[in-house]
Amino acid sequence: MELFETVAAEVPIRAGPVVIADYGASNVQDALRPIGAGIAVLRKRFRSDHVVMVVHADSPENDFTALFRTLDHHPDSYLRADDATFASAIGRSYYTQILPSNTITLGCTFSALQWPSRVLVPVPDHIHVAYSRDEAVRAAYAKQAAFDWHEFAAFRGRELVPGGRLVVVTPAIDEDGEFGYRPLLSSIWETLTELTADGLLSSGEADRMTIPTVGRRAGDFAAPFAPSGRFEQLTIEHLSVVNAPDRIWERFQADRDSAAFGAQWAAFGRSRLFAPLTAGLVGGREDPRRGQLLDRLQAGVAARLAAAPEPTRIPMAQLVLAKRTG
Ligand SMILES: C[S@@+](CC[C@H](N)C(=O)[O-])C[C@H]1O[C@@H](n2cnc3c(N)ncnc32)[C@H](O)[C@@H]1O
Repeated sequence: MELFETVAAEVPIRAGPVVIADYGASNVQDALRPIGAGIAVLRKRFRSDHVVMVVHADSPENDFTALFRTLDHHPDSYLRADDATFASAIGRSYYTQILPSNTITLGCTFSALQWPSRVLVPVPDHIHVAYSRDEAVRAAYAKQAAFDWHEFAAFRGRELVPGGRLVVVTPAIDEDGEFGYRPLLSSIWETLTELTADGLLSSGEADRMTIPTVGRRAGDFAAPFAPSGRFEQLTIEHLSVVNAPDRIWERFQADRDSAAFGAQWAAFGRSRLFAPLTAGLVGGREDPRRGQLLDRLQAGVAARLAAAPEPTRIPMAQLVLAKRTG
């Protein structure tokens, strides 16, 4: 939110609508407050009737109904706070150019760039590549992560106006090589192993189940900018990897409720991570065991984490890219 407010104070204001793009919007829940705060800062710099246009982009499969409902009903929605701000959406992958060149004043992406642009090979010895010992698989994911970041930055470089800024907040790998989410990912892996032993899943299905997300180190984000410091007219204004607060652990420290601790992490896992696992079922996402798999995974994860609550490291990269003026 602070990064967004800072860049909103610095971007150039031109005649015509100021366009803000949100890449990987989902239902926009987490981005509402930063975008609203950015608009409030912009408002102080121009007339109250100067139009702001917010474009939310996500893949075609995204639930855009949920997105527009959030924009209509959420108390933090910028549409409630500002009469001259308008919203729209694009259902296309951001690994291509999806907006006209030189039109975006302020771009942002929150917790989305961990999803690669294409389906990768399953991880054979875990559900997540970060905890795999298979060097070939690790290399394949790292190569894809590098390619995707290069493409994402290049297309945003075209879309930004000169002087425009892009704020990126995305899962990262920290200086110790840690991707984070270790207790949650381990408990998912252990529960899947148990469900295979119980006969709910065949070993072939369990082998295909992978959460295909990637993290990047600070150096990976900087790589396309080497050695000149410039890439597609962009420079890096800010790059840091920080440990995001673990709110579920903080609540546990206050209430010592281990069942609630496990349940909250399991609910987070179900809403954000379980869906790609179901693609490993023989019948894919239409498989009749899908509901049972989701329920048993959630219960297994909740029980495991409740049995031994511990804090989770959540390394997040924060970047601001700026497009050259003139
Ligand atoms: C964890 S959600 C992001 C949360 C959201 N930014 C918020 O503020 O609440 C990740 C989103 O990225 C989207 N996504 C993943 N790959 C994408 C792509 N190639 N193009 C567009 N959206 C993508 C997913 O569909 C998902 O909605």
